Amino acid sequence: MNVSSEFFMGNEALCDSSRYNVPPCLTSSKHRSNRKKLLLSFLLLGITLLFGPATVVFVWIRYRRGNRAPQQEDSFSSITRERISYYELLQATDALSESNLIGSGSFGSVYKGILRSGTSIAVKVFNWQLDAAFRSFYTECDVLRCLHHRNLVKVITSCSNIDFKALVLYYMPNGSLEKYLYSHNHFLDIKQRLSIMIVVACALEYLHQGCALPVIHCDVTPSNILLDEDMVAHLSHFGISKLLGEHESDLYIKTLATLGYIAPEYGQDGLVSTKCDVYSYGIMLLETFTQRKPNDFEGDLSLKQWVSHSFPEAIMDVLDANLITPTNNRLQKELDVVASIMEVALDCCAESPEGRTNMTDVVGMLQKIMIQLLTC
Ligand SMILES: *[C@@H]1O[C@H](CO)[C@@H](O)[C@H](O)[C@H]1NC(C)=O
Ligand SMILES: *[C@@H]1O[C@H](CO)[C@@H](O)[C@H](O)[C@H]1NC(C)=O
Repeated sequence: MNVSSEFFMGNEALCDSSRYNVPPCLTSSKHRSNRKKLLLSFLLLGITLLFGPATVVFVWIRYRRGNRAPQQEDSFSSITRERISYYELLQATDALSESNLIGSGSFGSVYKGILRSGTSIAVKVFNWQLDAAFRSFYTECDVLRCLHHRNLVKVITSCSNIDFKALVLYYMPNGSLEKYLYSHNHFLDIKQRLSIMIVVACALEYLHQGCALPVIHCDVTPSNILLDEDMVAHLSHFGISKLLGEHESDLYIKTLATLGYIAPEYGQDGLVSTKCDVYSYGIMLLETFTQRKPNDFEGDLSLKQWVSHSFPEAIMDVLDANLITPTNNRLQKELDVVASIMEVALDCCAESPEGRTNMTDVVGMLQKIMIQLLTC
């Protein structure tokens, strides 16, 4: 503020409006345009630096993919070759007629159908009015896309429009394990029940340990075990399944599975892990040999407690009466076998997740019991 104009004399680079007798700032616009030019070239440089390598990487990836594409397509097309239109599904199921309805649940309905090729199919149509049902379509697609095991229900394809979502599955002519346990027209002996349960254990072992990432089925119940024409079991309905992430062993969820089969930590806190499937499996194993549903029990007594109270001496009291025939001279040996099975089941439904066994061990133990049964 205190210096005079002389102070700036000879300093040609200065400019000002008038105060210090320095030339007016005529060149200011030139300055600004210089600055603009500088800014522009920095911008261009930035863009080049940013996108140059990205472009190279992109081209490289495209190139690599291009090289790999045929091979990938081969392995993929064998799984998803078939495409079935909405129109063909309507034809196959007689326009989703009531007479072809073979099941329904909160997700929607399942219809039986026959394709033009003669293949029997089950069309699982998801209820489009329910968000949760629509979501379960995507869950089921996601999960089933990466699973391939002989004891899981086989998917032919899916069919998806804006307001129609369906999974097309191979039809399982013998219905569910539930049907066989409770209908008067059907009967399964000890060996059949045990082999069904071994197969289901193998399927669960595959889900828990055999996939790239562990899958939790979350709804292991007799109605989700389907039987094919040779009475081989297939695990089905993956609508509320969970894929665990890498290094993830449990997660919290809100969807509830079937009451009675649900593990305590899942029911109370929504905490699911592979151990929840082990629990549900144990309950189902108890049910398969006692023919008592977990929901038949009220108050303090549960199916699990009822069996464990009579274990092992009074096992005959809890055994499905159909399995006991008075003239059966192998009875004692068979009772021993069933007691061993019940022991495995109780190991599966320990109260705390840490106390439960795993499916690998279950498969091993049940296979040993099967050998014991075959030799008696
Ligand atoms: C299972 O289904 C097949 C084919 O429909 C049938 O022939 C067979 O009798 C069924 N098995 C039982 C045990 O019902
Ligand atoms: C299953 O449990 C047994 C111990 O009972 C253990 O040795 C085995 O490693 C477990 N398997 C898996 C895959 O967790």
